[in-house]
Amino acid sequence: MENKIANRQGFSSGLAVFFATLGSAVGLGNIWKFPYLTGEFGGGAFLLIYLLCIVFVGLPIMLSEFYIGRKTRKNVVGAFEQLKPGTPWNSIGLMGVVASYLIMFFYSCVAGWVYSYVFKAIRGDFSGITPELANTQFASTINSPVWPIMWQVIVVFVVSAILISGVKNGIERVTKTLMPVLFILIIICDIRALTLPNSSKGFSFLFHIDFSRLTGPVILTALGLAFFKLSLGMGTMITYGSYFTKDNNMVNTALRVAISDTIVSILAGLAIFPAVFSFGMEPGAGPGLLFMTIPLVFSQVPFGNMLLIAFFVLSSIAATTAMISMVEVPVAYFSEEKGISRTKAVLINAVIILVIGSLATLSADGSSLLGGFTMFGKTLFDMFDFISSNILLPIGGLLIALFIGYATRKDDLKNELSNNGILRNRRVVDVFYVIVKFITPILLIIVFLNSIGVIKVS
Ligand code: PFF
Repeated sequence: MENKIANRQGFSSGLAVFFATLGSAVGLGNIWKFPYLTGEFGGGAFLLIYLLCIVFVGLPIMLSEFYIGRKTRKNVVGAFEQLKPGTPWNSIGLMGVVASYLIMFFYSCVAGWVYSYVFKAIRGDFSGITPELANTQFASTINSPVWPIMWQVIVVFVVSAILISGVKNGIERVTKTLMPVLFILIIICDIRALTLPNSSKGFSFLFHIDFSRLTGPVILTALGLAFFKLSLGMGTMITYGSYFTKDNNMVNTALRVAISDTIVSILAGLAIFPAVFSFGMEPGAGPGLLFMTIPLVFSQVPFGNMLLIAFFVLSSIAATTAMISMVEVPVAYFSEEKGISRTKAVLINAVIILVIGSLATLSADGSSLLGGFTMFGKTLFDMFDFISSNILLPIGGLLIALFIGYATRKDDLKNELSNNGILRNRRVVDVFYVIVKFITPILLIIVFLNSIGVIKVS
């Protein structure tokens, strides 16, 4: 047993820890989901609630997950089993594994769309693009019964290949080099978008707070997005935490990851909304928003097509590194708890993702092959997203907060988060403890009760 833990791979340095964790957080959530939800749910008001969720829910849960992971050095199920053997707490881990699958089913589909846009941009499909053409391009991309699935297969293949190479060679190397490049490219996008005619309307859409837009569903969606964004509530950060170095300052890592991730989301919003308003498009256009605006942002500028290719290449990379962290949850679980080899665990997961994920892909849009098949008014694609982001991740987060607040000794927490007293962060840990014990659970419960109509916040 001891031997198995000693032989476990891990990240090699503090920098690697930071970039790998950031690589999990930054992904389609920033460039695809954050802008389209902000567009659909009212701009600045949604952004404000989202930021509050990051501070009072996201950050404390991220730190809790880091603690659980690094203390136990185990996968998501094994970690709870080690801390509280034979208790129902380890069902948090199993729920996390289920949530990770639901997310992978639709995430691999959207990642496939992004990959296909690289190919289209290289082929020159976006030359002379107009808002109408951008619309039809997107519709034809997602409605074909064959191509999106083929791209999804490619995504799953790439993710699996990296995962088979292991934690250090695979995850670490890819994230460390490419995250900074993505950041620079989004800034180039921003400069272009903010110099378009009428761009100020997009700017004020993102930052002007209209309190009348704050309804129960808006708040629940912002909360779900915070979980999805920071990869929380399903044990991804427990799994990654288990690979952290012993001397990592986890409070700092959590802060730096949450801040950097939020900056990337806001920068993505600043690239997309000015373009939406400048080209007379609809901010509430839904999941196609990214795909319809970015080709327009780069139209009619010098080297526009090259920038477009670079943008989608880097977005593909961000989607891939985020997806790697998702698949790592069941892979670590299967290989450590069920005794199958890492390679086999990756391959089994690849098959599961593709079989069920292709159904998500075929239902991504009302006019897709399975688009007419709905449950509670939602397509399969939307259902996977809704159940994972808005239900399972927040419930997982609530249970994790309760676990830390009520089933963990405060001294253990202090020791682990201060690296056995080496770091002088007593005060910060005290504040974290109060938030995670009282504020985070209460907020989560209020949002839930509000969303199912038991109480009325607005
Ligand atoms: N945080 C990723 C993103 O915003 O794209 C998505 C994600 C990754 C969610 C890993 C959950 C997860 F475990």
